[in-house]
Amino acid sequence: MKFISKSPKETMARARILAEKLSKASLKKPLIIGLTGDLGAGKTTFVKGFVRGFGVRKKIMSPTFIIMRKLRARDGRDIYHIDAYRVGGPKNSRNDERHVTFNRR
Ligand SMILES: Nc1ncnc2c1ncn2[C@@H]1O[C@H](COP(=O)(O)OP(=O)(O)OP(=O)(O)O)[C@@H](O)[C@H]1O
Ligand SMILES: [Mg+2]
Repeated sequence: MKFISKSPKETMARARILAEKLSKASLKKPLIIGLTGDLGAGKTTFVKGFVRGFGVRKKIMSPTFIIMRKLRARDGRDIYHIDAYRVGGPKNSRNDERHVTFNRR
């Protein structure tokens, strides 16, 4: 399906409609939705509308620097908002700044 949004409002409204449909469905397994697009493409704007559809009233910011934020839907379900921009793949070298190593003293 293709949808062309002409404004942030329209993106949020569309996402909210999708979320409202999903919130009524009885999901047996966790649902993962991947959002891909260039910087400023509207991914976070989409998330703002989406979580609204689940009754989340919190202000949504891009979790780019904290990677993940947990939100609680109105019906008690957990929503994890993950921004994988700074998360490397499994091929990262151990000396990469994105790889955190713990050493016991
Ligand atoms: N149709 C549209 N849908 C969504 N956002 C739009 C639209 N038109 C213009 N914008 C603007 O584009 C910007 C999208 O920013 P947003 O933070 O949602 O993008 P992003 O994909 O999350 O970027 P990043 O990868 O940097 O996190 C906002 O400033 C928004 O107002
Ligand atoms: Mg974003």
